[in-house]
Amino acid sequence: MAAVVEVRGVSKEYALGEQRVQALRETSLDVEEGEFLAIAGPSGSGKSTLLNLIGCIDSPSTGHILIDGEDVAGKTPDELADLRARKIGFVFQTFNLLPVLSAAENVEYPLLQFRFDKARRRARVQRYLELVGVGDYATHRPNQLSGGQRQRVAIARALIARPAIVLADEPTANLDHKTGTSILELMHAINREKGTTFIFSTHDPKVMEMADRVVQIEDGMLC
Ligand SMILES: Nc1ncnc2c1ncn2[C@@H]1O[C@H](COP(=O)(O)OP(=O)(O)O)[C@@H](O)[C@H]1O
Ligand SMILES: [Mg+2]
Repeated sequence: MAAVVEVRGVSKEYALGEQRVQALRETSLDVEEGEFLAIAGPSGSGKSTLLNLIGCIDSPSTGHILIDGEDVAGKTPDELADLRARKIGFVFQTFNLLPVLSAAENVEYPLLQFRFDKARRRARVQRYLELVGVGDYATHRPNQLSGGQRQRVAIARALIARPAIVLADEPTANLDHKTGTSILELMHAINREKGTTFIFSTHDPKVMEMADRVVQIEDGMLC
């Protein structure tokens, strides 16, 4: 199988005032198409940094990131935005839904940049809300939903443009254990049904157990 993500000798250094923080050190990782992969490590180990680099939200200090065999370093900002929009979905620890929009409008949002007519867009949004189990909550705002329901909406938003890869940064960290487990089960079912590659970070051993493969990260290094 082809690697959908290749991380090649990537380091990331942040400037923090006078100090330099080495968030990733010479990190390499191949992710195969259709994997359900956990990146496990304690707080501050570099999980978010790695996911942000894979998601082309940030760029490496040294080394290369390849998505579908293409080095993202050669791309213009417009090309990168296009690649993110078409190939990558994001799920965050704090859900990051827009509070003034309904569940349906939040899910619809990533589709607005594509030329879809309204009826087709709305129908697809409703299908995805149903897929993640919140079909009856389309008109609810985030503050009218539970944490688990919010994360389901966020997963629908991540999937709506049919990305090849979903990156989920500690998607269960703000949920109780039972709700977190159901969110992981939902992601796994979508991974199986649609073949979407999932890469998620966690420091919860119970969440790691649900992955097909776990890579450990510590102090900016995969081990
Ligand atoms: N924007 C930033 N500026 C400075 N340091 C950062 C920044 N983002 C992360 N770091 C530092 O990089 C290291 C790794 O952080 P992070 O990737 O957020 O870890 P994790 O997600 O595993 O908790 C930490 O030491 C963190 O403080
Ligand atoms: Mg983090």
